Amino acid sequence: MVHVPFVDLKTQGHELLPEYQAALASVVDRAAYVMGAELRDFEAAFAQFCACPHAVGVSSGTDALILAYKAAGIGPGDEVILPANTFMATTEAVTHVGGKPVVVDVLPDTANIDPAAVEAAVTSRTKAVVPVHLFGQPVDMDAIDAVAKKHGLVVIEDACQAHGATHRGRPTGSLGAIAAFSFYPGKNLGALGDGGAVTTADAEMAETARVLRNHGEKTKSNHTVVGYCFRLDNLQAAFLQIKLAHLAEWNRGRRAAAKRYDQALAGMAGVTPISERPDVEAVYHLYVVQVDDRDGVRTRLGEAGVDTGIHYPVPIHLHAAYAHLGYKLGAFPVAERLAERILSLPMFPEITPEQTAYVAEQLARAVAP
Ligand SMILES: Cc1ncc(COP(=O)(O)O)c(C=O)c1O
Repeated sequence: MVHVPFVDLKTQGHELLPEYQAALASVVDRAAYVMGAELRDFEAAFAQFCACPHAVGVSSGTDALILAYKAAGIGPGDEVILPANTFMATTEAVTHVGGKPVVVDVLPDTANIDPAAVEAAVTSRTKAVVPVHLFGQPVDMDAIDAVAKKHGLVVIEDACQAHGATHRGRPTGSLGAIAAFSFYPGKNLGALGDGGAVTTADAEMAETARVLRNHGEKTKSNHTVVGYCFRLDNLQAAFLQIKLAHLAEWNRGRRAAAKRYDQALAGMAGVTPISERPDVEAVYHLYVVQVDDRDGVRTRLGEAGVDTGIHYPVPIHLHAAYAHLGYKLGAFPVAERLAERILSLPMFPEITPEQTAYVAEQLARAVAP
C-alpha cells in the first residue's frame, strides 16, 4: 500500500550523516561541548541568514521566547497580546516571566493573528504583541507595526515555524524588536534534539539574552542577574550549521510542494487551503487545509496511507492550563472554528510530485466519501 508520511526526517539525516560524524569527531577531539567555536560560528551564520545583527543560540524555542520576553522587559503585571491559534509555548513563556497572556482571535484566511483584534485588546497595561508566523507564513507586519506604534507596544516575533520566510522581502527574525526560533527536529531548520535562537537588531537586548542564557554570568564568575541554563550545545550548533547551508534549498522544496498542492486543490469542493498573503513568501512548515468533518476526513486519509496532523485542535484559551484567564467557549469564534476544521497535509522538502498528487487525490475522495 502507498504510504505518505507526514514528515520525513530520515532522508536528510542519512544524507548528512557523514558531515555530522565529522562534526562529532571534531567536538570530541577537542572536548569542546559548550559555549565554544561551533556555537559562535552558527550564531554568526544564522544572524546573517535572518538579516539581523545578533543571534543568540539557546536550548529550545520555548527558552528563546522566555529570553525574548525578558529582554523586551516583560515582567509582572505586563499584558502580552498573542493569538488563540498557536503552540502553547508562546503563552507559557509569558506566564513564566510573570506577564499576563491576553488572547485574541485570528484571521479566517491565514489563521494568523488579527491586527484589529490586537488593537481592540490594548489596555494601559499592554506591553507587547506577539505575531506568531504560524505554519511558516509571516503575519501582516504592516498592520501589527501600525498598532504597536500607535500604542507603544514592543513587537516580539514567534518565528518558531518560519525560518527563512519573508515579509516584503525581509526575513522573519528581523521584523520586530526581537524574535524567537525553535530548532526542534521537525522544524524547517531542526537540530538533532532541542535547540532555539533569539534574534534582534538591538545590541542591549542581545546582551541581555546572552547573559541570561548562561546563569546571568556577564564575565567569568561575575553573575550580574539571576539567569538560566538555556545554552545551545556546541554539537547541536555544529549540526545546525551543516543544515543551515541547505535551508534555502529545502524551503524552495517546500514552496514547490505547496504550489503543487495549491494547483491540485484549486476548485476542489469542500477543501479550502490556508491562503498565502501577496506580500509574503511563506516557507510552509505546514500545509494546512480547512475541511468539514475534519476527523472523518483524517481517518479516511489515514486508511489510504496518508498521514496528517492538526495544528492545533484546541485553541489556547480552551486549555485547562489557562482556565484561570476566564475565557469561555465562543470567545474567539474564528480560532474555534479553525480548530474544528484544520488539517495539516504531508509536507517536507523532499516530498515528490507523485506523493503530493496522491495526497490530493485521496483528499478529494475523503471529503466526498
Ligand atoms: C509557534 C511555536 N512557538 C513555540 C514553539 C516552541 O519551540 P520548542 O518546542 O523548541 O520549545 C514551537 C515549537 O513547537 C512553535 O511551533
